[in-house]
Amino acid sequence: MKFFAKPTDIVKVEADMVVVFAKAGRIDGGGFVLSDEAKKADGALAGMLAEVATAEGFEAKQGNSMLIHTQDRIAAKRVLLLGLGNLKDLTMHDWQMITATVARKAKAASLKRVAVALSQEILDTLNIQSVAQGLVEGMTLGTYVFNRHKSKAREKKDNTIEEVYVLIAAGKLDAVAQGLTTGETVAQAVCFARDLVNEPPSLTTPTYLSRQALGIAKASALVSCEVLDKSDMEKLGMGGILGIARGSDEEPKFIKLSYAGGGRKTVALVGKGITFDSGGLSLKSSEGMETMKIDMAGAAAILGIFQALTVLKPKVNVVGLICATENMPSGGAIKPGDVVTAMNGKTIEILNTDAEGRVVLADGLSYAVEKVKPDVMVDLATLTGACMVALGEEISGLFANDAKLAQSLKEAAEQSGEKIWELPLAKEYKELLKSSVADIKNISGKRYGGAINGALFLQEFVPDNIPWAHLDIAGPAWAEKDTPLEPRGATGVGVRMMLCWLNAQ
Ligand code: BES
Ligand code: MN
Ligand code: ZN
Repeated sequence: MKFFAKPTDIVKVEADMVVVFAKAGRIDGGGFVLSDEAKKADGALAGMLAEVATAEGFEAKQGNSMLIHTQDRIAAKRVLLLGLGNLKDLTMHDWQMITATVARKAKAASLKRVAVALSQEILDTLNIQSVAQGLVEGMTLGTYVFNRHKSKAREKKDNTIEEVYVLIAAGKLDAVAQGLTTGETVAQAVCFARDLVNEPPSLTTPTYLSRQALGIAKASALVSCEVLDKSDMEKLGMGGILGIARGSDEEPKFIKLSYAGGGRKTVALVGKGITFDSGGLSLKSSEGMETMKIDMAGAAAILGIFQALTVLKPKVNVVGLICATENMPSGGAIKPGDVVTAMNGKTIEILNTDAEGRVVLADGLSYAVEKVKPDVMVDLATLTGACMVALGEEISGLFANDAKLAQSLKEAAEQSGEKIWELPLAKEYKELLKSSVADIKNISGKRYGGAINGALFLQEFVPDNIPWAHLDIAGPAWAEKDTPLEPRGATGVGVRMMLCWLNAQ
């Protein structure tokens, strides 16, 4: 799918389908009001568009659509009328859902060339470059398929859309073209992260992730990569990740990616890379284990982000740290009651081997603090089922020791179409992590507040003077059901939001 900004007249554009918009005509989202471009098409169609829409009782609710054939009255073969709902409420996420719907309709009809007539009202609600970027993201993510392991040709059907023309006045071509290019890079990074998570866990081992990282570094002079193996980690005293890795036949890897974008700030991104979480000796149920290949979604997001950084080139230095290991049960596995020492010297009593993410991140955060000395630090982790209980499957939990950082992440999420919600680092609960034999234990022993307890544990490895945020992406990392923007499976959560945030640093 290739995207082009075109100043072509809506009546003259040659395409299999041209998309025009209507906003709701009533407060409840019912009725419809055609955009200026839709009116122009309607004029050339002798009023057929509005007539059919009225006859069909078309309501311009968000995502509602109606298709008519143009019978050669205009150059495009079909017109798709798409509802925007109440325009003033339109968010980037809505826009991506709408454009994803457009792409799915075109793909379902096996169309090759699609034109989209952006209306001034959309550009006024969201800014022009974001509209173009969001369109590419929506259309690309909406038509994403993971069919590498399907053997039947019928199920291997890829996207049929070859070209997408964004129709826009000549004076705005540059802004649109820029947005389209950014959108392509971001969307590809999200798809890359989705692929990594969707692949079977026996393929995407820690070693596999390290090879992906090395590949990214090899392709760009702006990125370098260093992979620490078990003996390197032993020298550094990374007892957390090494402890969790004991039950696995796969060697753990600590992956460091560095992007030198210039500028004054250095950001550290730390990713949970549990390539499969069986729970360890605190074994999960079969059902609980079914989707546990997703437990490296934080790591996958970081790899996606680095792939995009080499193209977007924001003026900021970024160090990505991935704690990659399996969490498996075996005769050598870490046991409840064991004590490990993290890289910063803190001792951790392991009472539940299924609370492994925080234990590996303890080393990742310690490494960042000691070796990278970042100005700001963000971790991404599928950390707790409790966060899903609190916020559901579509919203990531945000924890931060710095209000400004939290605010900037919220803005980046909103602008990029992702959803996050802040939860407190409640100091009242800190005592729940006190251990009778070590400095800290890895579970609270209470049924409630699990997402907060996980975040409080991580905070033990971050000094107060480094702004730090923790994103618990356990819910949105995986889509159980198909939505326009996310086919069932991995979502690539975090990539869009963090790229938007990095760009603003
Ligand atoms: N990887 C899981 C969290 C998770 C659960 C992610 C569901 C995505 C979907 C994590 O390692 C885990 O097992 N957490 C435990 C913590 C508990 C033992 C304190 C959990 O959430 O039950
Ligand atoms: Mn676990
Ligand atoms: Zn886990």
